[in-house]
Amino acid sequence: MSVFEPLASDLQRLDAASRRRRLIPRTGTDFSSNDYLALAGDPALAEAVAEAVARGVPAGSGGSRLLRGNHAEHEALEAEAARFFGSESALWFATGYTANSAIISTLPQRGDLVVYDDLIHASVHEGLRLTRAETVAVPHNDVDAFADAIAAWRARGGTGRVWIAVESLYSMDGDRAPLADLAATADANDAVLVIDEAHATGVFGAGGRGLAAALEGRENVITLHTCGKAMGCEGALVCAPAVVTDFLVNRGRGFIFSTAPSPLMAAAVRTALRIIEDADDRRAKLAALIVHAERMLGSHGALISGSQVMPLILGEDARTMRAAGAVQAAGFDVRGIRPPTVPAGTSRLRISLTLNATEDDVSALAAVFQDVLA
Ligand SMILES: Cc1ncc(COP(=O)(O)O)c(C=O)c1O
Repeated sequence: MSVFEPLASDLQRLDAASRRRRLIPRTGTDFSSNDYLALAGDPALAEAVAEAVARGVPAGSGGSRLLRGNHAEHEALEAEAARFFGSESALWFATGYTANSAIISTLPQRGDLVVYDDLIHASVHEGLRLTRAETVAVPHNDVDAFADAIAAWRARGGTGRVWIAVESLYSMDGDRAPLADLAATADANDAVLVIDEAHATGVFGAGGRGLAAALEGRENVITLHTCGKAMGCEGALVCAPAVVTDFLVNRGRGFIFSTAPSPLMAAAVRTALRIIEDADDRRAKLAALIVHAERMLGSHGALISGSQVMPLILGEDARTMRAAGAVQAAGFDVRGIRPPTVPAGTSRLRISLTLNATEDDVSALAAVFQDVLA
C-alpha cells in the first residue's frame, strides 16, 4: 500500500462526487478571470516593471520585510495606496489570502467576537481557524442577523471587542453587502468593520476606490484591496488606521515570517493605482458589457447581480461540470464552481465579465447556452 493511500482515496472520493479539481490550460474567450479591466496584459504595467528594472530595482526582495527584504518600492506603494484610498496607512501583503488570514487571526483578541457573513471567502475562514476570538456566522447580507448575533453574545456575557467581517462584492454571487447599514451596526456596537473589497476595487467607486470608499479612513474600518483582480497585478493592500498596520507588522505571522513580495511587482501595483484612478472609460465599457450580458444571459438563468460576476446556478455538481465542459469546448472559458467554494446544492457556472471579452462574445456565449442548457 502506498504511503499516500489516504490521499489517493480522498482524490477518488472527490472524483466520484464530481468534485475533483484539475489544472487546465488557459484557452477560449475569457469569462472566468478576475482581470475585470483587462489590465493584466496591459503594456503600461509591463513598462512600469521595465522602467523599475532600468532603475536597478531587484526582482527578489531577499528576505522578510522586517529583515533586509524591506525595499523603498514597498514603502512608496504603501504611501501612495494610503493616499489613494484615503486611509491613515496601508500595508502590502504578497496575496489577499495571506492578508485576510492575518487580519482575522491577528487583530481580534481572546475574549473578542468575530461575526462574519456566511458567504465570506476561504481566506477569512483561514483566519477564523486560527483566531483566539469567538466566531459566529450569520445568514448572507442579513444586517439584523449581525446585530442579533452581537446582542446574543453580549447577553451571554461577551465583553470584548466585536469584529464584523464582510465582502463588499461577493466573489461567487456578485451581489453587494449593505455597507452603510453594517457600518451603522458597527458604530452602534463599538465594533470594527472589516471589508474585503477584492472584487470591487478598480471596478466601483470614484476612481475605482471601491464600494467602501465613503467609509475609508474611519477609525473602526479596515479594508482589503487585492491587487490581482481588476488591478491586474498581485498582492493586497490592507488600508487601516496606523495602529492596525503597525500591529500586523509586529504580530501578523503571515507578514513577518515570509519573504517580502517582489519590489518589481510593487512598482507595477503603484502604476496600476494610477491607471485605475483614470479608468472611467474602462469602467463605462464594463458597465455596458454588464447590461448587455444581463439582457443576453439573464433569460438562460444567469442571475442579475448588477455587477461583473454573474452566477448561473445549476445546483448539481456533475451537471455543472458537464455544462462547463460543453461551454469550454465551444471556445468560452467559463468555469464550474462547486462546494466547498459555494454552498452544497448551489454549484454554478461563474460568468465573469471582463474587458477581455466583447459584447459580440457575450452574444455568442448566449447562443451556446441555448444549446448546452436546453
Ligand atoms: C473575496 C476574496 N478575498 C480574497 C481573495 C484572495 O486574494 P488573492 O487572490 O490575492 O490571494 C480572493 C481571491 O479569490 C477573493 O475572491
